[in-house]
Amino acid sequence: MAESLPVILLTGRINPRVREGLDGKFEVVTVDGDLSSLDESVIARARGIAGFNAAPAELIDQLPALEIIANFGVGYDGVDTAAAAKRNIIVTNTPDVLNDEVADTTIGLLLGTVRRLYDAEKWLRDGKWENEGPFALSPLSLRDRHVGLYGLGRIGLEIAKRLEPFKVKISYHTRSERKDVSYGYYSSLGELATAVDTLICIVPKTPETHKAIDADVLKALGPNGVMINVGRGWSVDEEALEAALKSGVIAAAGLDVFQDEPKVPAGLLDAPNLSVLPHIASASVPTRNAMADLVVANLVSWFTDGAVLTPVAETPAKTR
Ligand code: DGY
Repeated sequence: MAESLPVILLTGRINPRVREGLDGKFEVVTVDGDLSSLDESVIARARGIAGFNAAPAELIDQLPALEIIANFGVGYDGVDTAAAAKRNIIVTNTPDVLNDEVADTTIGLLLGTVRRLYDAEKWLRDGKWENEGPFALSPLSLRDRHVGLYGLGRIGLEIAKRLEPFKVKISYHTRSERKDVSYGYYSSLGELATAVDTLICIVPKTPETHKAIDADVLKALGPNGVMINVGRGWSVDEEALEAALKSGVIAAAGLDVFQDEPKVPAGLLDAPNLSVLPHIASASVPTRNAMADLVVANLVSWFTDGAVLTPVAETPAKTR
């Protein structure tokens, strides 16, 4: 009898290119919701998961033969890495291939927020340019801003590099100072927010980043302040942000990520000078293709060579 292919579960909504890449090399089973719809033998034989940031302990614990969780996305906060590590299950993510896209989108969101590009386009499309005259001058500009990066990992560095030609001053806060950059370092987020007038959040979802951008940080940013979030909605206190925008504590904000996606609080959407995007920072066809290919490459590599390309730190590289 021919040897059976390893079973890989495709969980939730995931880029179709992942399935295309796995078909023929694996027995690919789509899981829609929970595992109750699956045959017991499939559950018993499942050796891998490919998913979009969704592998909680309850799922991991039901799969006795699980060896690898290949996450689609650089952020893997939806994967219970502690539950995986306990069982010696390796977790991979998709770093680097999305750095440029996310950094480009961040600059677009920053400029769109500061110069009110969405409102200006709407003014034209609504016929107001012709009927009412020019769009109002934007009160804000990127000129002479001091931009603070909350987070200076791989994506943060790309954002900083893109900011340099805009001739703005650049500073950052991370847990420890980087020796390989000349940007100003602040050892706390509060000190960074006090020093700068523009804050870009690009930190992962961890216990210490929860609602880190709160009322105090926004107050420190000040009335000329602009806050951009392209990390996780988890890091911003959305109620405090809404209040800060409505009362002029800061001048404007641009968000690609939200606490409870895809839901966005109506009160927040009502706030003035807010630009919003539906979590699209990495969402171009070329970049999502590259992410899908890396998910597939990690699974293929694991089941052919017994090693993976991009393991996460919590479940270090090992061999089968
Ligand atoms: C990531 O890769 O974590 C992105 O947020 C997915 O869009």
